[in-house]
Amino acid sequence: MNTTSKTPITSNYIELLKKVLIDHRNIGEFEYYPLPIENANWKTAFLYPVDKLLRKRNFIIAKRKPVIHEERMNGYDWPAQALTMIGYNRLTNIEQCIHAIIQDKVEGDLIEAGVWRGGAALFMRAMLKELSVTNRKVWLADSFRGLPKPDAVNYKADKWNRLNRLKILNVGMDEVKHNFEKYDLLDDQVKFLPGWFKDTLPEAPIEKLSLIRLDADMYESTWQALENLYPKLYPGGFVIVDDYYAFKNCKQAVDEFREKAGITEPTIDIDLEAIYWRKAK
Ligand SMILES: C[S@@+](CC[C@H](N)C(=O)[O-])C[C@H]1O[C@@H](n2cnc3c(N)ncnc32)[C@H](O)[C@@H]1O
Repeated sequence: MNTTSKTPITSNYIELLKKVLIDHRNIGEFEYYPLPIENANWKTAFLYPVDKLLRKRNFIIAKRKPVIHEERMNGYDWPAQALTMIGYNRLTNIEQCIHAIIQDKVEGDLIEAGVWRGGAALFMRAMLKELSVTNRKVWLADSFRGLPKPDAVNYKADKWNRLNRLKILNVGMDEVKHNFEKYDLLDDQVKFLPGWFKDTLPEAPIEKLSLIRLDADMYESTWQALENLYPKLYPGGFVIVDDYYAFKNCKQAVDEFREKAGITEPTIDIDLEAIYWRKAK
């Protein structure tokens, strides 16, 4: 971790919270069953009624493969119940960034652009609570209805992107608020920005940011988030990009934005999918 400060030892609460958020029903177990087929991907969705009928008659054509615990711990799958897709290392990265921000007095709020069920943003709020920070907010920017249809005219890289068709990525704001409530973390330090980034982010009443976490999969979404949020990042603040190695178009948006904005701070790999960098002081 490229921070100037030594990271303090985490509390039992934060350590347990990370494990619960990754896989809240199956903590400690070694495998579980992944999403039902209708949510698995758009190509297989049409097979669902057939699969259901055959199963009812005890005729199982294909056994569902259990997801191994390790895969979930690393955040390389889309979990059925967990509140976040990201795994242990990416939660620990958020934890370490927040420790560094507080210790080094980097000013500004925290934001996640692309929250899904809210687990990673919830973890940011939990960290502020843990460190008794009352003067910073956690912003949650999301359509709360999934990804946008690709806009191939303005964002060519998204031309073949079909993530907007995946039902599993539509999570409503009420569900996310409810998730925060369950963990006693819904309060006035948590702010919601519902709508498409292109509409909400340019107008967002955010003054300064110390942490920007991008997890919105597409070129368009990644670009719009960087364009509107990066100028608000305080020196010493962090940018985390969840999908850098997962989606080529996301990587392209980040690389092109960094070049255009003259960003030379090196990126650091968190795991096989995510990266972060720290803005120079
Ligand atoms: C992969 S999920 C985020 C995962 C989440 N960070 C977690 O911890 O599990 C992507 C999210 O980005 C949102 N999203 C993507 N592009 C968007 C856009 N242009 N405007 C608003 N929301 C967007 C989707 O609605 C979805 O909730």
